[in-house]
Amino acid sequence: MSLFQVQGLVKRFGGLLATDHVSLSVQHGEIHALIGPNGAGKTTLVNQISGLLTPDEGLVVLGGVDITALPMHRRVAHGLSRCFQVTRIFPKQSVRDNLLLAVQAHSGSSFRFWQPRAQARGLYAQAEQLAERVGLQHSLNATAGALPHGAQRTLDVALALASAPKLLLLDEPMAGMGPDESQQMVQLIETLREGMAVLLIEHDMEAVFRLADRISVLVYGRVLTAGTPDEIRNHPEVQAVYLGTETLETAA
Ligand SMILES: Nc1ncnc2c1ncn2[C@@H]1O[C@H](COP(=O)(O)OP(=O)(O)OP(=O)(O)O)[C@@H](O)[C@H]1O
Ligand SMILES: [Mg+2]
Repeated sequence: MSLFQVQGLVKRFGGLLATDHVSLSVQHGEIHALIGPNGAGKTTLVNQISGLLTPDEGLVVLGGVDITALPMHRRVAHGLSRCFQVTRIFPKQSVRDNLLLAVQAHSGSSFRFWQPRAQARGLYAQAEQLAERVGLQHSLNATAGALPHGAQRTLDVALALASAPKLLLLDEPMAGMGPDESQQMVQLIETLREGMAVLLIEHDMEAVFRLADRISVLVYGRVLTAGTPDEIRNHPEVQAVYLGTETLETAA
């Protein structure tokens, strides 16, 4: 069975069918990209997966558990984590403190002065490991809000990793980034597939075609098709959807 499945999901906004019986599955270790033109319903779908929106019909299943009706924080306990287009960083705190707060929230412990020193040391070590995992080990003492945009997005990924997710949702991680920052984010996302599955929503087609193992194409709320990057690139209906934009042709 797949690590993650969406089955027959429906979401209506008044008369608009924003999610039209969407089904898709993601395997462990897979980077699955969700693409589609503006207004296709990508964010609406992701919001139902993360629990921000409740679907009208259908199921969301993670690790064999039906999480369709669970609130956001309970989904995290079942292995779901999300990066935010608007980041959740505490800008006045250091990178280290941001990571410590995330690690601590997941560990269920809290910082109290009577806390055993070994336990506190464990949290510090985990925070530093996370920083190293995403390449922020030299910025631990920096104020998070003073980091360049790309590094802030990277910190956001690290915060999402603190809960050791089975499925990580990335909604436009490259948004607002320059070419160098995008490149670094692509390299970081590439390293993630070893330990989890990733559902990636991204407009940067070059990044999508480099990273994705499989791609689902959403159009008017429906899955037009799903397949490997090569299958998607050569799919006539997908080409028609993107006709004129040349994004698929230029994506290597
Ligand atoms: N809260 C809402 N109320 C009413 N309509 C909505 C709401 N949220 C989204 N929509 C509509 O649902 C459709 C899908 O929107 P959505 O934001 O999910 O698309 P998207 O694929 O994420 O687009 P983009 O690429 O621009 O981010 C659009 O027609 C949008 O106008
Ligand atoms: Mg969107």
